[in-house]
Amino acid sequence: MTQAPDRPAFPLDNTDPALLQRLPETLAEMQGRCPVAWSDASGGFWALTKYDDVVTASNDWQTYTVTKGIMIPPTGASMPVIPAELDPPRHTSLRKLVLADFTDKALQRWRPGLEKIVDEAFAPLLPAGRADLVRDIAHPVPVLAISLILGIDSDWRRVRELAANFIQATGQPELARQRAKELEAFLEDEIDARRGRPVTDLLGSYVNATIDGKPIPPTELLGLVQLMVVAGHETTVNGMGTMIYRLVTEPGLRERVLADRSLVGPVIDETLRLHPPVWNMGRTVAQETEVRGATLCPGEKVMLVYGAANRDPERFAEPDRFDVDRPGLSRHLTFGIGRHRCIGEPLAKLELRLTLEYVLDNLPDVEIDGTPVWGGGTNQHGLRSLPVRFTPSRT
Ligand code: HEM
Repeated sequence: MTQAPDRPAFPLDNTDPALLQRLPETLAEMQGRCPVAWSDASGGFWALTKYDDVVTASNDWQTYTVTKGIMIPPTGASMPVIPAELDPPRHTSLRKLVLADFTDKALQRWRPGLEKIVDEAFAPLLPAGRADLVRDIAHPVPVLAISLILGIDSDWRRVRELAANFIQATGQPELARQRAKELEAFLEDEIDARRGRPVTDLLGSYVNATIDGKPIPPTELLGLVQLMVVAGHETTVNGMGTMIYRLVTEPGLRERVLADRSLVGPVIDETLRLHPPVWNMGRTVAQETEVRGATLCPGEKVMLVYGAANRDPERFAEPDRFDVDRPGLSRHLTFGIGRHRCIGEPLAKLELRLTLEYVLDNLPDVEIDGTPVWGGGTNQHGLRSLPVRFTPSRT
């Protein structure tokens, strides 16, 4: 796609690993200088960085479609991600099928199992008093959690490996296609093993479900399960690492949360606002539109830059400050907004809560013990390593 001369432009290259080392600063500069910006990177895209613009675009599916893919650049998956890459009315039916299983209320039945996952992840670390909280906790917990809930937990190591490989290959089309095929093949086997059988786990219930009296076609089923596995993995990993990082680095925060557990929720939301694990999502212009004077044409990609919108000073006063007392702090866009808002938000927040509560109860003196490493991918951002030390214990 060629760049028209009069387009407001900013060289945001989301395939450049160096960007991830200075992501908040770069996004703030872009929002200040050029809030609706064209970038030639990743095949060309418009970046919307203002809170209100991201909300408007997210709520207008007729202008900004998801059906041409939601990743910039594309992942290489051979089929759409379901329901994220469907417009209504099909999106509405499939979303309805799974939404009820992921509400706060529905998740209560999994709470003991999730607590056990967190306990068992921490247990081997306690005697040493040292750990890498990203490698040892943030990596295993989310994939174990989604595997438990779907009913594919007997082979969770394989699930984790395949999901991580798939995400890491984004931006490398050949490799991405191969990795997507590997994950798809594993999930297809799991689906086939449940087809037509009275399987009581959640995956089995989707395999044997009907919509308007018809079974769900295999490609849709695969796309749905694939999204849950992938979405439930890297995102929550990133959230967990940054949450503990903030807990131990924000002056006075740990003491306040130890004394007042009602702050656990605000700590989670404020971490997610400042460090959205998914810092952008894509759309494609379906009909010409204008945003702040820029003309967006059909076929052009649009990046919803949550990482910038969450720090929009017109929405959040002193946006770079970590402030658990901030009014309306949960109104960040980290889980998206509108009809595609993340289905897994309650699950992700429950996993974050159980992990934070475990740390407060059992490792109250945890400290950083080395250099935290930031990293990510074309739309993910978070800590890759968080070395810590704490007083050793036996239980
Ligand atoms: C901190 C963790 C997570 C973050 C930051 C996150 C973020 C997001 C974002 C930004 C979207 C897209 C919104 C859009 O395109 O408008 C999304 C969609 C989605 N997420 Fe999550 N997610 C997280 C965890 C999870 C988990 C644990 C699951 C597991 C069930 C999940 C399942 C989904 C699904 C199914 C969608 C598609 C919803 C739709 O299109 O209707 N996510 N998520």
